[in-house]
Amino acid sequence: MVSNLLATRRRRFMAVVAASVMAGGLALTAQGPDPQTAVNNAFNQFKTLKEGKNADYIPALAKVDPNLYGIALITVDGKVYTAGDIKTEVSIQSISKVFTMAQVIQEQGLDAIEKRIGVDATGARFNSIIAVEGVRTVVGTGAPEMNPLVNPGAISATSMVTGANSDAVWKKIIGTYNDYAGRQLTVLQDVYKSESDSNQRNQAIGALMLAYGYIKSNWPQAVDLYTRQCSVGVNARDLAMMAATLAAGGKNPVTGKVVLDAAKVPGVLAVMATAGLYDDSGKWLYHTGLPAKSGVGGGIIAVAPGKFGIAVISPPLDDAGNSVRAQRTITAISNALGANPYAVRPK
Ligand code: DON
Repeated sequence: MVSNLLATRRRRFMAVVAASVMAGGLALTAQGPDPQTAVNNAFNQFKTLKEGKNADYIPALAKVDPNLYGIALITVDGKVYTAGDIKTEVSIQSISKVFTMAQVIQEQGLDAIEKRIGVDATGARFNSIIAVEGVRTVVGTGAPEMNPLVNPGAISATSMVTGANSDAVWKKIIGTYNDYAGRQLTVLQDVYKSESDSNQRNQAIGALMLAYGYIKSNWPQAVDLYTRQCSVGVNARDLAMMAATLAAGGKNPVTGKVVLDAAKVPGVLAVMATAGLYDDSGKWLYHTGLPAKSGVGGGIIAVAPGKFGIAVISPPLDDAGNSVRAQRTITAISNALGANPYAVRPK
């Protein structure tokens, strides 16, 4: 009797899960809140959080409204859930590194990044020069221990995008970002100018990367294009769409355009999991299990493979350069939705 009852309950539970999976490839609603409730709950929980400080080493970033707060979650079947300000643009900053890396991988294969730059954590800050010195001896041995999400690796990845001249390379970079976002993005000129005037450290990194063989020629062009890619304006919805495209195996869930071959997506996500939040990447993964990427403009994206992409914008950062409120918000939402890919319920 009791076992019949249990069997009936189990069948009903499985039917709910199956219906949810069939409805959108998601089991998000089988238990726990639906995505909009999870997004609203997190927004209400963190809307008054004031910790952290805007980046100010790029003067234009210090002027951005620190109260800006927007959340967007987009499922792999294109459903959009939002809260707060999802229209105001900030500069994409380091989140751009993911999509330039993806562009190089799409054109030249996974090996190209692994062999030239590496896919290992440096454990150092994003613009560390000591990290360059620490790994320079292995250039040419086939085992560089850098990655395309810290500045030395990112500037090198930008230098790997092919094109007859700077304009041609830029068209490819921005074209790729547009495809991920599903709309035409533009450079925030005040940020580009401000960062160009204050990026001497990145220029030093560019020159070093040429000296050590990571960049083959014209490091000033690579640094300029890198600065420009960091200055692209995005809102929370754009960033969520870019993340959702990775979550959906490289296909933009709204436009349907395939931007990255499905077979190449796991490599991109692996580097995000390893180095997406710099020296705090381990801590982040420990709490969420999700590949992610932060930017000093205040955005963070995270990818729940096969489920959704999520983005939060909130400019004040912690000491590692990651948005305080975005980290807390994404952790709360993804955990409420059971999105940690390492969390398996025993059968
Ligand atoms: O290279 C820089 O300094 C910036 N354009 C990007 C840095 C960044 O976003 C690091 N992120 N957390």
